Amino acid sequence: MTTTSAKATALPAVAKKPRAAIGDRTLRKDRWWLAPWLTVVALTAWLGYGLVRVFMQDWYWSAEHHYLTPFYSPCVSTGCIPEASHFGRFLPDHPLIPYAALTLPLLLIFRLTCYYYRKAYYRSFWLSPPACAVPDGHASYTGETRFPLIFQNLHRYTFYLALVITLINTYDAILAFDGEAGIGIGLGNLVLVGNVVMLWLYTVSCHSCRHVFAGRLKHFSQHPIRYRWWLLVSRLNTRHMLWAWITLGTLVVTDAYVMAVSAGWFTDLRFVN
Ligand code: FES
Repeated sequence: MTTTSAKATALPAVAKKPRAAIGDRTLRKDRWWLAPWLTVVALTAWLGYGLVRVFMQDWYWSAEHHYLTPFYSPCVSTGCIPEASHFGRFLPDHPLIPYAALTLPLLLIFRLTCYYYRKAYYRSFWLSPPACAVPDGHASYTGETRFPLIFQNLHRYTFYLALVITLINTYDAILAFDGEAGIGIGLGNLVLVGNVVMLWLYTVSCHSCRHVFAGRLKHFSQHPIRYRWWLLVSRLNTRHMLWAWITLGTLVVTDAYVMAVSAGWFTDLRFVN
């Protein structure tokens, strides 16, 4: 290399300058705070509703139509109505033990460790950071490599348990077509099935599910079937946030519908039988 070409390619020396003195917390002019606020309100309201319903221990089963709310499935407490207990009754009946105490904690951990919900509550509840180009609400960041956030890694295992619980919800929805008067279809059946379909979309679009199908593959060409499934799951995965919110909504709607029919606030709209 000649001296001339070396000079031509040398980077110009950059004089060190102090950062611009900007007093504002952020230069964003849009309503960046709206999404975190809405998330706080929606998640708090959902948790409040769920807690009230789970400890109500009533109006979870429609005896006439065999509708069981997902908040009480599987109903395994000795306090459960026998017809609503599709998997036996073995947990003690106590006001502080939910009738579905076997599955609710698992579902809670599954959602709490979900990649999407992590983003949602890190931003909205912990302000870490509340939005892009907005300063973090905390002075330091330790990531998810140490206690307690290292437990977020449990997600890949809770995925398998969530699959089983979704299967149980599907079983409940199928059984509900066989009511007291025999096989029939009512609005409650559509609500239960709609909820289960959404639960499957949410569960199967999980990032862990993508990993199950193709996480360790080096050559897609040698595993065409797994590759096809991976493509499908990846497509669903792009809407994971949407399924996460929709399922929160369908769970509440399904539970509220079963509660209303069970309490006799209105009768189920029947299409067949
Ligand atoms: S990443 Fe959301 S359920 Fe797995």
